[in-house]
Amino acid sequence: MTSSSNPLTPAIKVQELYFGWPQGKPVLRACSLQVPRGQFWMVLGANGSGKSTLLRILAGLLPIQAGQIQLEGRVGFVFQNPDHQLVMPTVGADIAFGLVQDRLPLIEVRQRVNDALTAVKLQDLQRRPIYALSGGQKQRVAIAAL
Ligand SMILES: Nc1ncnc2c1ncn2[C@@H]1O[C@H](COP(=O)(O)OP(=O)(O)OP(=O)(O)O)[C@@H](O)[C@H]1O
Ligand SMILES: [Mg+2]
Repeated sequence: MTSSSNPLTPAIKVQELYFGWPQGKPVLRACSLQVPRGQFWMVLGANGSGKSTLLRILAGLLPIQAGQIQLEGRVGFVFQNPDHQLVMPTVGADIAFGLVQDRLPLIEVRQRVNDALTAVKLQDLQRRPIYALSGGQKQRVAIAAL
């Protein structure tokens, strides 16, 4: 049995992770954690304590300076401010954006947009302008577009 098919292998394993900005004191020092497969976890901490930094490293948006990360699959990432992630004027267009870039046939783009919106329970908002969404709805659109 490979380690990735072992149900006891954590979905996320972080060992002794270090991260610091130049000229600043370290943001993460010997940060270690394991998230089991299929569980929903929260990272709690004071403002500026390094939560977003940790998640950005997991998503590959910041480099690993020291330590190790093992991930089961790809990490999707919703920015703290989803306005920084939504690029098109409407919900449907935003979700279709990456699919069109990938040159998928139109019929498949439509199907995938429908499926993604259904998965985040926003199927009635496909034509809604992004500016007319609540903050949580914007985060759901960002998840649907991943
Ligand atoms: N680009 C940057 N350059 C230098 N320092 C940065 C940069 N981005 C973040 N920091 C600093 O890194 C530290 C950790 O920031 P981070 O965004 O990870 O905190 P956080 O725990 O997500 O905070 P919040 O609860 O406010 O979202 C903070 O002290 C912040 O000022
Ligand atoms: Mg943050």
